[in-house]
Amino acid sequence: MTGEERDELVRVVAPDGAEEERALDAALRPRLFAEFIGQEKVKEQLRLLVDGARGRGDCLDHVLVSGPPGLGKTTLAGILANEIGVGFRPTSGPALERAGDLAAILTNLEEGDVLFVDEVHRMPRAVEEVLYPALEDFKLDIVIGKGPSARSIRLDLPPFTLVAATTRPGLVTLPLRERFGFSPRLDYYSQEELARVVHRSAGILGLYVEADGAATIAARSRGTPRIANRLLRRVRDYAQVRGDGRVTAEAATAALALFEVDELGLDKLDLAILSTLVRKFGGGPVGLSTLAASVGEETETVEDVYEPYLMQLGFLKRTPRGRVATDAAHAHLGAPAPDPAGLF
Ligand SMILES: Nc1ncnc2c1ncn2[C@@H]1O[C@H](COP(=O)(O)OP(=O)(O)OP(=O)(O)O)[C@@H](O)[C@H]1O
Ligand SMILES: [Mg+2]
Repeated sequence: MTGEERDELVRVVAPDGAEEERALDAALRPRLFAEFIGQEKVKEQLRLLVDGARGRGDCLDHVLVSGPPGLGKTTLAGILANEIGVGFRPTSGPALERAGDLAAILTNLEEGDVLFVDEVHRMPRAVEEVLYPALEDFKLDIVIGKGPSARSIRLDLPPFTLVAATTRPGLVTLPLRERFGFSPRLDYYSQEELARVVHRSAGILGLYVEADGAATIAARSRGTPRIANRLLRRVRDYAQVRGDGRVTAEAATAALALFEVDELGLDKLDLAILSTLVRKFGGGPVGLSTLAASVGEETETVEDVYEPYLMQLGFLKRTPRGRVATDAAHAHLGAPAPDPAGLF
């Protein structure tokens, strides 16, 4: 394919990307447990929590969901609200800049509501302290006035459920962590589960997908439903423009080669991280910030988004002295494995 053809294809397949992707995201997001694929254990545990609370006529205990991006944390929070039949009030740690921001949200809750706080590890400390009594006793302490005449009053809040999500459970402070009744951790999905995600989404999009086509996409989805959906949309575009519209293994392979996703689902930045480690730093160990700077990415993004899957594949190890590329990583890049004696 010439550069021009490629530009044309990219224009056709990505018209006004963001807007369309957001609408599709909403359409593809499961709304009930029955639609949520995989994570069987967590689903069973959450169902039990919901049924228990409902049976007693109680509010659901606070839940902290952790796991890498795109595995379904926000989706599960929405499902909890739907299954209980209460309102869903989403916000995020960084959006709650001042204690007053949280107070405004808390005082507007209705009884039983699910308050969803995404990226809860990024909530400022002062805001977190306002949250503690709200979680424990459904009370809100507010200070009125300034200086010597300032006084604190205590407001009653309606009982509510906090569902918090984090990609970095280690950064959630201990006092906050202890206030959750249940803290499930989501894991990467199997290829079989991802193939089911692809089939489900294809059904919603009205696409014909062959089993091999779904399997090809699933294998390149890095264990992540969000990526499975994104790749399916790119393959759909390709099949529509270049093929007969059907998502076959050939269409999937050709489309994903065009978008530079390799057979393990690694994209350009994954490969840049690995090859920098291997070729520039002799396999490591190298510090995270040096590695991130070398590939021109934020340390947080490298740590949260890229490394977990590279570790899952057994390509990268975190050691006290820095990041190390494994023999499997060298093999994937077609580089000779380093001399183990030279490492230490
Ligand atoms: N178990 C699942 N079954 C089907 N689709 C899923 C499942 N989990 C996630 N998805 C799809 O993947 C998308 C991403 O999921 P979601 O937004 O819940 O991830 P997240 O864990 O909140 O990610 P982030 O950490 O980036 O906020 C959803 O829009 C949904 O369509
Ligand atoms: Mg989310």
